[in-house]
Amino acid sequence: MKSYEKLLLENKAWAAEKVEKDPGYFRRLSKVQTPEFLWIGCSDSRVPANEITGTQPGEIFVHRNIANMVIHTDINLLSVLDYAVNFLKVKHIVVCGHYGCGGVKASITNHDYKALLNMWLRSLKDVYRHNREELDAIEDPDKKSDRLAELNVMEQVVRLSQTTIIQNAWKEQQAPHLHGWVYGLKDGLLNPVMELKAGSEVDQLYRYDII
Ligand code: CO
Repeated sequence: MKSYEKLLLENKAWAAEKVEKDPGYFRRLSKVQTPEFLWIGCSDSRVPANEITGTQPGEIFVHRNIANMVIHTDINLLSVLDYAVNFLKVKHIVVCGHYGCGGVKASITNHDYKALLNMWLRSLKDVYRHNREELDAIEDPDKKSDRLAELNVMEQVVRLSQTTIIQNAWKEQQAPHLHGWVYGLKDGLLNPVMELKAGSEVDQLYRYDII
């Protein structure tokens, strides 16, 4: 059996098991999704949003990219954010990074990953530069990249608050609350490193006159 065929087979077994436990399961889920959370996580295969949070299909709206970045010109991220905030009306947004993140580690090296990946990782280098004093002082390379993973999550949460999508929602819906978490590959635990409640102070430079 080919590896991908096993996925299809496992899917059949999974669907059958769900229906056996709850005959209306798929019928109910197919009608509407009302997730309370938007998850912006790393694409890393070891950090599956639902599994590590004990949630089910229908509970988390998910966007993932390399190193869980919020890039203000990323139309994919912005579309997901817009839909999650303005149509699904999620109450919480979690930016979830993880310790041992390959993207974060790569951004600290001088390796040439070629144009596209270099461009993506450059935004991480900016986070390093903004925290250079603290990060330069950490000698252990793993501890250094793990701290950068934490600082990166905090920066991405702040970037969310800089968007008109979030600023509008904070004014009109008093939601969503923003959270920055870092997942430990070695212990399976989520470490909350930041929280911005709806209506939090935004740097005046990034504040928009919302009518
Ligand atoms: Co990663």
